[in-house]
Amino acid sequence: MRLAPSILAADLADFAGALAVCEQGGADLIHVDVMDGHFVPNLTFGIPVIKALHRRTRLPLDVHLMVSNPDRLIDDYLAAGSARVAVHWEAAVHLDRLLTHIRKGGAEAGVVLNPATPVELLEDVLDQADFVLLMSVNPGFAGQPFLPRALDKTRRLRERIRRRGLAVDISMDGGIDRDNIARVVAAGVDTCVVGSGIFAAPDPVARMSELRDRARPENL
Ligand code: DX5
Ligand code: ZN
Repeated sequence: MRLAPSILAADLADFAGALAVCEQGGADLIHVDVMDGHFVPNLTFGIPVIKALHRRTRLPLDVHLMVSNPDRLIDDYLAAGSARVAVHWEAAVHLDRLLTHIRKGGAEAGVVLNPATPVELLEDVLDQADFVLLMSVNPGFAGQPFLPRALDKTRRLRERIRRRGLAVDISMDGGIDRDNIARVVAAGVDTCVVGSGIFAAPDPVARMSELRDRARPENL
């Protein structure tokens, strides 16, 4: 299991502190939620913040684009230092072209599915993606409750990836915490994005190791 803390849930007046937590806790990726106030109602941060984070950490930045027209500024997101870029299936009209473009730009390309979007719709794009990010909340806000339907979607996607012999990472985002991380990983998730489950804890670094312990197969 790889752990990707979502800095949206951290103290946004203290990015340096959030990065320190991620580094001390042994994060595999740092999840960065870009919201445009249009595709989702909320508004967060964009390219200048990605650049600033990239200057301050060696950890790979996992950029989740919750924006309409994700192809519009894609080169800037890539140049800012994104290691992975995920675009919503619901927002990308020319998804095949966009994923190819992201890969050519040197980043891993991902497709995000909202809770109501079935994994079966990935049939003709799965081999163009390095990862699929399954939303286990409706995107827009940190701190929402986990939607259990995401577990069945994970199992269906895992089976499709296996049948086709692909090496696509399955990531999950939203409402993951110490009470459900074991079930999430058991369903077949490789990379867990965790916001409040880390940053709302009294000791976020200790919480990261607790999450890893709980996700170990022997503890499932
Ligand atoms: C939701 C964001 C998530 C969010 C996760 O729209 O995409 O990445 O920050 O936060 P938690 O873990 O608190 O749901
Ligand atoms: Zn996210």
